[in-house]
Amino acid sequence: MSFEKIDKNNIPHHVAVIMDGNGRWAKKRGMKREYGHRAGRKSVKKIIESCLELGIKNLTLYAFSTENWNRPKIEIDFLMQLLFLSLKGELKNLNKNNIKFDTIGNLNRLPKKIGNYLEKVRLETKKNSKLTLTLALSYGSRNEIVNVVREVSDKVKNNIISSKNIDETVINDHLYTRNLPDVDLLIRTSGEKRISNFLLWQIAYSELYFTKKLWPDFRKKDLYKAIVSYQNRERRFGKTSEQIK
Ligand code: FPP
Repeated sequence: MSFEKIDKNNIPHHVAVIMDGNGRWAKKRGMKREYGHRAGRKSVKKIIESCLELGIKNLTLYAFSTENWNRPKIEIDFLMQLLFLSLKGELKNLNKNNIKFDTIGNLNRLPKKIGNYLEKVRLETKKNSKLTLTLALSYGSRNEIVNVVREVSDKVKNNIISSKNIDETVINDHLYTRNLPDVDLLIRTSGEKRISNFLLWQIAYSELYFTKKLWPDFRKKDLYKAIVSYQNRERRFGKTSEQIK
């Protein structure tokens, strides 16, 4: 699929990706899972570049789920270190390319060194505006929704908000993603057709795209393919086809 095939007037505003298949990619090569994660980092770079070229304004990547804490400690440590070194190596590039960095998820569970560094990168890139790159780290959508319920009910208890006024906007405004638009296109690699506790509220009207490509093999042309597929669908948001036209 080529860049030219994409309608530049119908670019998704927000693309989210479940980057899956690093482990299998490594296993196929007789290597350890860590080798796959390192290769997955290259795909992350390529896809960010591609978002900049296409004018996609928001990219959200599922880098570490709440469930991933159950993996062997050695793999968790490796992923954390890879994240830390990648951010350290890329901070200049983020600013050079006008990329705003953010995270969603429960950062309190991350090692302090990583948490502090994430905050530093967030602060040092917060004025950038070409692309918002959000990493979901220690993220789980059900947990996010539980937190929203807690915060909103506290506000009701303290008379800051009346329960009658709780609507979708109120919920939205308490999600980690409060500053992001709804997800237009959700991509999952590696052939699995699951959402795995990612952005459950935010994908209510998203187009879902599944590809068999393993994440370390995912390249710009694969993103183009996903976008062309998105552009060929009719998003009706519950209306009829005639109403949309
Ligand atoms: C899923 O593959 C991938 C992850 C749990 C981690 C994602 C991490 C990266 C792509 C590394 C670089 C990222 C950044 C942001 C620096 P898996 O391990 O579940 O693969 P499997 O399903 O084949 O076992």
